[in-house]
Amino acid sequence: MCGITACIGTADSVDPLMSGLKRLEYRGYDSAGLAVKGQDGLSLTKRVGEVSELASAVEQDSLDGTFGIGHTRWATHGGVTNENAHPHTDESGNIAVVHNGIIGNFQSLRTELEANGHVFSSETDTEVVPHLIEESLRDGATPEEAFRSAVGRLSGTYALAAIIGDEDAIFATRSGSPLVLGIGDGEYFLASDVPAFIPYTDRVVYLHDGDFVVTTRDGYTISDAAGRPVDRSVETVDWDPETATKGGYEHFMYKEIHEQPGALRRTIHGRLNPLSGGVELEEFPSGTFADVRQIHLVAMGTSHHAGMYAASLLSALDIPAFPFMAGEYAVTVPPVTPGTLVIAVSQSGETADTLDAVRRARAAGAKTLALTNVVGSSITRECDDELLIRAGPEIGVAATKTFSSQVTALTLLAERIVEDVTGTASTDAAEIIDALSRLPGDVQEILDTSTSRDVAAEYQDSDAYFFIGRGVAHPVALEGALKFKEISYEHAEGFAASELKHGPLALVTPFTPVFAIFTGKEDEATLSNVKEVQARGAPVIAVTSDRDGEIAEFADHVLSIPETHPDVAGILANVQLQLVAYHAAKLLDRPIDKPRNLAKCVTVE
Ligand code: AGP
Repeated sequence: MCGITACIGTADSVDPLMSGLKRLEYRGYDSAGLAVKGQDGLSLTKRVGEVSELASAVEQDSLDGTFGIGHTRWATHGGVTNENAHPHTDESGNIAVVHNGIIGNFQSLRTELEANGHVFSSETDTEVVPHLIEESLRDGATPEEAFRSAVGRLSGTYALAAIIGDEDAIFATRSGSPLVLGIGDGEYFLASDVPAFIPYTDRVVYLHDGDFVVTTRDGYTISDAAGRPVDRSVETVDWDPETATKGGYEHFMYKEIHEQPGALRRTIHGRLNPLSGGVELEEFPSGTFADVRQIHLVAMGTSHHAGMYAASLLSALDIPAFPFMAGEYAVTVPPVTPGTLVIAVSQSGETADTLDAVRRARAAGAKTLALTNVVGSSITRECDDELLIRAGPEIGVAATKTFSSQVTALTLLAERIVEDVTGTASTDAAEIIDALSRLPGDVQEILDTSTSRDVAAEYQDSDAYFFIGRGVAHPVALEGALKFKEISYEHAEGFAASELKHGPLALVTPFTPVFAIFTGKEDEATLSNVKEVQARGAPVIAVTSDRDGEIAEFADHVLSIPETHPDVAGILANVQLQLVAYHAAKLLDRPIDKPRNLAKCVTVE
């Protein structure tokens, strides 16, 4: 989704802005641009395509300025053209604005502005903003007043940064789209996400919806819509610049797959009590969830699969739990009865559909809990409580380490909820705690020994790829297929193994390899489905810890996972499937970290 970067106070603004745009590439975009202010006034360059193409154009235009704003655009209003790329300006070319989000009432504003003589040069919703600012300046407002007045006219979601007239300042605000402030040594940065400025500073202010920021070379002020100062704490992030870059790996996705043992260690750190065999969540002391009667898990994509996984665990422990695709939550109108806990699962904490579901849940009276990777993200502010998964920054569009950490954190949460609701730990609590404590090492074993590359190579010319599983292996099958399709562009589908005979079996041929996931629970039933697909000539790749038994005997290939508790085995199986998807996409030479048409963070519904 669109990315904003801005800086002021640096010796030269072009380098930090370009490096910020490069670091925001993971969000997904189709064009990029920047505007800088120097001795010659405002200069602007924008280009369709990659940030590297913008970099060449910037060099050609000899762009030079002491402060500026930059943007990566993911088209929502108007095609992918240089004109529609940000920054947008007014007719005078003296005001420049970058925007992330959607301005809902842009059409009526545009009609009004055009009637007042404003001439638009793009099809975007954003362009109304510089024209609105210009109107106010014409009426005698100061730049800050003009910015506030323009923002006051907008409805929808936005993070905005603007350069206005002769003022040596950057004006910014947010409402429903992320924006963070970076505080360096006499240098100030604004960005959609911290990695944009991490080489320059690790001191961050997470802005809230409704905050207005004015940054100059001498400092910054934060105020509310009425202009009253607001106090926001400065936090220090512990990401070194290398953490947010590839660190020697060819792709972020591969790096992040390999970071999983470390990410999982952080997820479980201090949360397992091997002595009592119980869970210790600092955020949720024993008894917190005693009143919970049912759980809704709302999320999208990979996070939804993590929600499905958790719902399966909770239901098996007699806690009614229902996973919902957050974007469908409004339509399915689930009953929010007293004692309903809504858990919103989101890596970014900024997914529009998930935020919308949270708002609906709150309006219906549910208690809400955010399970996210991003400190200070919108979802943490919109929910009553939060549990961080601590996976570290995930840059690749394809979610990998965050799924493992989400499922792990949800497993811990499930144990706490069961204990609170029933008054006693689940029957398998001690075994699960033990399995989770071994999980980082087990994942490492897979990373060290996986034969996934050979499997990907052997089946690279197939017609389609199917993934099947039962219980927690069902969401893992869906996740395996999602990963495979999104980065390889090959047709891949996941099914509940039980569903095969009811339709999908018609698709199975000798040219459709089937990945069958075995966790140690209900394996016999899944094995009978394996025999059904084999009878139709399909090659079977079993993901299992059963290396020498009946499953291995029937499978054409085994992707082996260490023996563990069945509730945890799905996390391990998923790592094998991440690797298969990665190698398949690499063999096809796909742009793995930035698959076509996709964005890391989907901030529009
Ligand atoms: C999967 O690889 C994708 N990145 C996507 O499905 C993602 O999980 C979804 O858009 C939800 O994002 P979130 O976790 O940031 O809310």
